[in-house]
Amino acid sequence: SLPGHVRIVEVGPRDGLQNEPASLSVALKCQLIEQLVSTGIRHIETGSFVSPKWVPQMADTEQVMHQLQRTSGVIYSVLTPNLKGFERALSCQPSEIAVFAAASEEFSARNINCSITESLERFNPLIEKAKVQKLRVRGYISCTVGCPYTGDITPQQVAWVAQQLNEMGCDEISLGDTIGVGNPLACKRMLAAVAHYVPLSQLAVHFHDTYGQALANIYAMLEEGIATVDTAIAGLGGCPYAQGASGNVATEDVVYLLNGLGIQSKIDLSQLTVVSHWICQQLNRPNQSKVARALHPQ
Ligand code: HMG
Ligand code: MG
Repeated sequence: SLPGHVRIVEVGPRDGLQNEPASLSVALKCQLIEQLVSTGIRHIETGSFVSPKWVPQMADTEQVMHQLQRTSGVIYSVLTPNLKGFERALSCQPSEIAVFAAASEEFSARNINCSITESLERFNPLIEKAKVQKLRVRGYISCTVGCPYTGDITPQQVAWVAQQLNEMGCDEISLGDTIGVGNPLACKRMLAAVAHYVPLSQLAVHFHDTYGQALANIYAMLEEGIATVDTAIAGLGGCPYAQGASGNVATEDVVYLLNGLGIQSKIDLSQLTVVSHWICQQLNRPNQSKVARALHPQ
């Protein structure tokens, strides 16, 4: 049965902007985050503390976090791949940090330059320190239904990584279809394996829409009891280390779906489309959200 309420985790300011050819100014990034919060979004990724040589678009996350006008009750989350990233993050009081692993060895090597086991060993002390600081910890798993380098991924591989992250203390685990190759059946099989080790209430789905399957896959996940969905305004996004990966599923498209299903998200769809068109203008790129284009033609 479908959940009564779904929490949207807006990843546009991080996943969306990390892949844009041009960097947005700190002021515009702050404006984007504040406007998204004003639509009702209560959980938002503001950036990442990764190597500025690898992802220059996120090099100013610290300034963004400092200049942001925060709203109480909103979770401001940042990605931290290692202790160095975590120390940088601590100086700007995030509400949550996120570590990111993969179900594919090849993707792990390309994305974070280490094996899956090494990545988990790196996260362990970081998660312990985050717990001491009373920070929420999110754990990502990339390539849960397919890898751009090695193709098929078994549900058992994903379940193993999820179990490790869960045992290390991740409060929530986000299951990524990094290159959007999943279908409802493959996603259900993957989720069933993971749910063996992690309660559904601690799982999120993070689907890129490369092949236009994300909404179908999300619906399948809602039917299985998933109630946290990662999305990006205007369908921004992509991972620089996943060739051909296009944007995340658009926030507007998911909110429209939820509204149609009578599922509460407490997000104002028409305000969302205004923010969506505004950010596309700033980035000089077409809007990937069908709902934004339909509701608010340019
Ligand atoms: P590395 O080169 O293996 O690290 O990078 P290292 O420890 O050998 O350090 C090398 C240099 O980087 C040193 O500097 C370090 O100080 C520096 P140097 O001495 O050469 O001047 N360094 C750092 N600087 C700033 N912040 C740090 C940091 N760490 C090291 N945290 C590392 C390892 C993970 C840092 C690197 O591979 C990296 O930054 N990768 C980028 C990963 C990334 O941002 N990917 C995109 C996000 S994940 C994603 O999009 C998927 C997701 O959306 C889910 C899905 O869709 O599937 C989450
Ligand atoms: Mg992603």
